[in-house]
Amino acid sequence: EKGGYDYFMLKEIAEQPKAVADTLLGRIDASGSLTLDEVRISPRVLREVDKVVVVACGTAFHAGLIAKYAIEHWTRIPCEVELASEFRYRDPILDAQTLVIAISQSGETMDTLMALRHAREQGARVLAVCNTNGSTIPRESDAVLYTHAGPEVAVASTKAFLTQLVACYLVALYLGQVRGTKWGDEIQAVVRDLSRISYEVERVLATMEPVRALARSLAAKNTVLFLGRHVGYPVALEGALKLKELAYMHAEGFAAGELKHGPIALIEEDLPVVVVVPSPKGRSVLHDKIVSNIQEIRARGARTVVIAEEGDEAVVPYADHLIRIPATPVLLQPLVATVPLQVFACELATARGNEVDQPRNLAKSVTVE
Ligand code: F6R
Repeated sequence: EKGGYDYFMLKEIAEQPKAVADTLLGRIDASGSLTLDEVRISPRVLREVDKVVVVACGTAFHAGLIAKYAIEHWTRIPCEVELASEFRYRDPILDAQTLVIAISQSGETMDTLMALRHAREQGARVLAVCNTNGSTIPRESDAVLYTHAGPEVAVASTKAFLTQLVACYLVALYLGQVRGTKWGDEIQAVVRDLSRISYEVERVLATMEPVRALARSLAAKNTVLFLGRHVGYPVALEGALKLKELAYMHAEGFAAGELKHGPIALIEEDLPVVVVVPSPKGRSVLHDKIVSNIQEIRARGARTVVIAEEGDEAVVPYADHLIRIPATPVLLQPLVATVPLQVFACELATARGNEVDQPRNLAKSVTVE
């Protein structure tokens, strides 16, 4: 059943182009408009939404953090993202104009389920983004947008995460469409690039051998740090989570802009620091800031592992290891930038002799609080 792979996780990483394509299938037509028939919340209700709240746990929470950038940028609706386990214990402000998006691969995560129940009790509408047909979370929601990743067996989430991102982009674009957000050139380009993004994921996968070799060379390390900005920040958090759960290493993700506010004190000789570099186009300000962060940490001895777009030459002098990803629109970059981090964690786990598909102490679906 592992289809020739040593682990389900490797198989599921390799399945990502298909999972992404399947999640898009039939949802964007030739003219670039979106049809999300399953989202049975009427356009009238969606037009009245004045706040979006995303609730999720773990990797799905990271997808939610990225969704916030897309939803706010494309729809101008304020969006909060919260860990489902924190959400209902702080008396959140919810009403009939609130759209709650509950993201869950399994559809059975207890904290996410309790959060959506609480939201519905307060009159909010709940849209589930879920990978498991007929599971509890979509059953208890007002509507569901299924991710079509297929069954995910490995405990560490990979293909489900990429499809959660796709689903969130679709929801954001759909909200924009329904609400008549000005469909400018930027959004048209994004829709076009999104419908082709599975090829880019495939291209990244074809270039992962040096990432594996790098991971093996770091097997004796104790700590790896991850830095990112904008949508690269949740990607850094996801890279750190994968490394914790699979390699049992101390790993932390930081917003690169926070370095000077504390984390830079952690930098020491030969400490591996993975940096997710934003696109040099369009967001040149952030790009330049990250490049100076890379210079700063390298001057303090860090071993820099730089994930940057093809053609981004500015990073080359400061990268001890350079991982190239295809150029994408800024908001879509997580779909390609996450892949090397998954491969990195999987290979490190293998090199350290860990059980890849079934990490210690973890369960695939957490049905207790
Ligand atoms: C990490 C991982 C977990 C899950 C989390 C939520 O690789 O798999 O962090 O993402 O337990 O699970 P779902 O999405 O099933 O609600």
